[in-house]
Amino acid sequence: MSKLTIGLFGFGCVGQGLYNILERSQHESIGVKKIVVKNPEKDRPLPRQRFSFHPDDILKDGEINVVVELTDDADAAFAILKSALQNGKHVVTANKKMLAENLEEIVHLQRRYNRSVLYEAAVCGSIPIIRSLEEYYAHEEISSVEGIFNGSTNYILTRVLEERLSYAEALNEARRLGFAETDPTLDVEGLDPRYKLSIVLLHAFGVVISPELIPVSGITRMGREESEFAQKNSLSLRLCAHAVKQDDKVFAWVMPQFIPLSHHLAHTRLEYNAVQITGEFAGRQLLTGKGAGSMPTALAVLSDIIALQNNYRYPLTKRKSSKCPLFSTNISLNAWVRFDGNQAITWTVFNKVFGGYANAGCQVIVGELALDTIAYLAQQEGVHVVLLPEDFKITSWPAAGTEIRREAAVACVQ
Ligand code: HSE
Repeated sequence: MSKLTIGLFGFGCVGQGLYNILERSQHESIGVKKIVVKNPEKDRPLPRQRFSFHPDDILKDGEINVVVELTDDADAAFAILKSALQNGKHVVTANKKMLAENLEEIVHLQRRYNRSVLYEAAVCGSIPIIRSLEEYYAHEEISSVEGIFNGSTNYILTRVLEERLSYAEALNEARRLGFAETDPTLDVEGLDPRYKLSIVLLHAFGVVISPELIPVSGITRMGREESEFAQKNSLSLRLCAHAVKQDDKVFAWVMPQFIPLSHHLAHTRLEYNAVQITGEFAGRQLLTGKGAGSMPTALAVLSDIIALQNNYRYPLTKRKSSKCPLFSTNISLNAWVRFDGNQAITWTVFNKVFGGYANAGCQVIVGELALDTIAYLAQQEGVHVVLLPEDFKITSWPAAGTEIRREAAVACVQ
């Protein structure tokens, strides 16, 4: 396609970033013809006549050949996407919820209408992960894609753990800086990285599943005990997404995790994201960059727009392979589990117990549990779960606690 005439839906943080980048770079063959927004009353940085409030002003405009969808409403975004494709337009979107919830149909619609839907900006902001998986890793046997997929929670955890800001202050900053979703519970409860992970499952492994099947827990339950344990054991705490393939199965989860300070993910700070890909031939590789924010995300949108000039469409090589793994949650992981107060702990939920301690306010057990059990416990009132690395050795419990004798604990689960 030589000339791209864009119809832009949404003029929030990323929409304005894209508009500014396009103004600054003066691409002769790329122009924004119309901008459709929802709320006519809102103050905006461009003259009022630059905006329209009717989707059909873009969708029925025959000159517009690319719809850039940057709204925060997943249902409205999906309706726009379908109508754009039906009307012969390509779509670039950053709406991870809409994508994750409709991936199978979107793959089908692209084929049906012979148009592209590109969404690099939907996963890890400026990090070029989707096209890397599709192009660079197309013929690599990937065994895992793991990392930090949410800028807001990473920003909050960095500011709280390293700079002692309160959780509320750090969250407010993440909102003010344009990192958080309009509804920030999507960030702090881990739902946003879960959407991103389900998109990654398609491009890394060819697997399409409902995001709801991926076990999730967020960062809202992290407290002083976790922070003290991390400090005493040279650990950091991050919200991590994992997709791990073993034989013909792929497992995925999004959970807070203790990470040794010697590991590069522990040094992924503020709104930065990191994606670690492990494959048969390349071994382990790490992509890192800003995962949220107006300009970094807008750059990823622009990169998709430019890819359209070369008639790019995701080849979905892994999806077409006959060796797609099956999604499963039947895996066991090491975890720190904190129970508030003196509630009776059901020891039998642990496959193995490595140790624990108790103090006046809580009891903590560290052990191995089934992922489904971890996900269940993480939703229970007064229970706090953080994953631990596979080969982790506890060096020190918080000073105020009494160690629960390992032999007694182990005897309980046998
Ligand atoms: N709220 C998202 C985040 C924005 O914090 O990562 C980028 O997807």
